[in-house]
Amino acid sequence: MLVTGCLLLASFVGGAYAQSQPWAQCGGAGWTGSTACTAGWVCTYQNDYYSQCLQASSSATSRSSSPSSVSTTSSRSSSTVSSTTSTHSSSSASSSSTATLTGIAGTAPTVGPSQDTGKLPALGWNAWNAYGCGISNDIIYAAASDIVSLGLQAAGYEYVNIDDCWAEMKRDPTTQQIIPDPTKFPNGISGLATQIHALGLKVGIYSDAGTATCAGFPGSLGYENIDAATFTEWGIDYLKYDNCNVPGNWSDTYPPPGNDYYNSNSAIRYRQMTAALAAQSRPVQFSLCIWGAANVWQWGSRVGHSWRMSGDSSASWSYITEILTTNAQYLDYVDFYSHNDMDMMEIGNGDLTIQEQRTHFAAWCFMKSPILLGTDLSKLNSTQLAIVTNPELLAFHQDATIGAPAKPFAPTANGTTTTNPPEFYAGTSTKGTHVFIINTASSTATMGFTFSLVPGLAAGSKYVVHDMWAGKDLGTFSGSYSASIAAHDTAAFLVTPA
Ligand SMILES: *[C@@H]1O[C@H](CO)[C@@H](O)[C@H](O)[C@H]1NC(C)=O
Ligand SMILES: *[C@@H]1O[C@H](CO)[C@@H](O)[C@H](O)[C@H]1NC(C)=O
Ligand SMILES: *[C@@H]1O[C@H](CO)[C@@H](O)[C@H](O)[C@H]1NC(C)=O
Repeated sequence: MLVTGCLLLASFVGGAYAQSQPWAQCGGAGWTGSTACTAGWVCTYQNDYYSQCLQASSSATSRSSSPSSVSTTSSRSSSTVSSTTSTHSSSSASSSSTATLTGIAGTAPTVGPSQDTGKLPALGWNAWNAYGCGISNDIIYAAASDIVSLGLQAAGYEYVNIDDCWAEMKRDPTTQQIIPDPTKFPNGISGLATQIHALGLKVGIYSDAGTATCAGFPGSLGYENIDAATFTEWGIDYLKYDNCNVPGNWSDTYPPPGNDYYNSNSAIRYRQMTAALAAQSRPVQFSLCIWGAANVWQWGSRVGHSWRMSGDSSASWSYITEILTTNAQYLDYVDFYSHNDMDMMEIGNGDLTIQEQRTHFAAWCFMKSPILLGTDLSKLNSTQLAIVTNPELLAFHQDATIGAPAKPFAPTANGTTTTNPPEFYAGTSTKGTHVFIINTASSTATMGFTFSLVPGLAAGSKYVVHDMWAGKDLGTFSGSYSASIAAHDTAAFLVTPA
């Protein structure tokens, strides 16, 4: 059955998915991608956050044991929160650490993630957006080689991440370990990891905080210690941990007691893996693929290094604007070791315009989201390669001294930060103050900002405006600066006192 799914998928490799591929997301709160599945597959409700393409004949029975993990739509925080950004602060993470905890929360591990990895948002590649289940040792190793040969490693990209569908359907009956699919990975995952490490890169794997992964392979819930030890033995550096197939007794009540989402059942499913990873000898960057559920931004940095803020990305302008709108509300939670994840990159996929691809990359940089390229790298053209290796945007993203992202600001006395998404952002790097402007309109626009209104800009009468995309100064200006910005493009400036 799964083999059929992966073969079907092969015909879509490298292309855009007008319809969702087998096992892929096709609905859920905030979903902007296709709600149709390829022939023979049916978009099937899993929970309020996630509908998935399942095989038509088997969807009714094969997933009947996968009850919803989320009980109400009213809890869908990331798309319904309308309060101002000023009410969010990292210190509000947990209100009841001294209250008596009942049930599983009373005994759940509280150890935090490793501080030996994950300080800066991850930079790398993941197989899913380009290949879905159609992965192999050769495909993953080819991506790793491309990262080196195309100059991506030199630009800072380091993670080569395997997504779903790498395993056999059943665990080893004796050791209970997950077994790599020997057809796809004849040298095992450890053999591939050795090859990738030899290039000076790191390797990531995928599992799930439920009984099965989204594509139905073994999940790690209840097997956290065995799986963390196995991953360590193989040399794994990064774990993406998904949220499918959660047993009914792990459902959350909303809001959880005391509004304490750190002690929600969702958080505890992830905390069990945090503790298992902490017991290993090797630091593992821990990526919570929790789709923006259970107010994860409030507790994510106590459990992992980054956390997904939405369902899966799609190669569409509507996905980009939707996730920008959501994430702009939660930027106060982003700092070192603490990254809202806007999901993997779609540059190279679908029919995003080159301006939309620039916005996709620039916004992931200035919001300090993990950036995992998600395409066949060998097919990127020189314009696209220049975007994803832009040294000044990457320097902002990877700044080792300043962890905060750029945040929305009102650019003029009558301006606003509340458009959806906001169009003007200001932030600081070791180089100085930056302004980023997204033109969300569908035609070229002249967009300007008043220097005195840019947060962080030292008082001065004249400023040098520098174009980060081009790497060159545009001149010295007083009062304000305006730029002509193409439809759906993003301008990126460093602004320093003259
Ligand atoms: C759900 O049931 C399993 C199996 O009995 C148990 O190990 C787990 O702790 C339960 N989860 C919760 C949240 O009570
Ligand atoms: C690369 O592809 C984009 C479309 O994704 C196109 O706009 C751009 O002109 C191409 N660049 C080159 C050098 O072919
Ligand atoms: C806002 O102010 C700018 C100048 O600061 C002006 O160009 C623009 O027309 C004003 N917009 C509105 C809606 O009043």
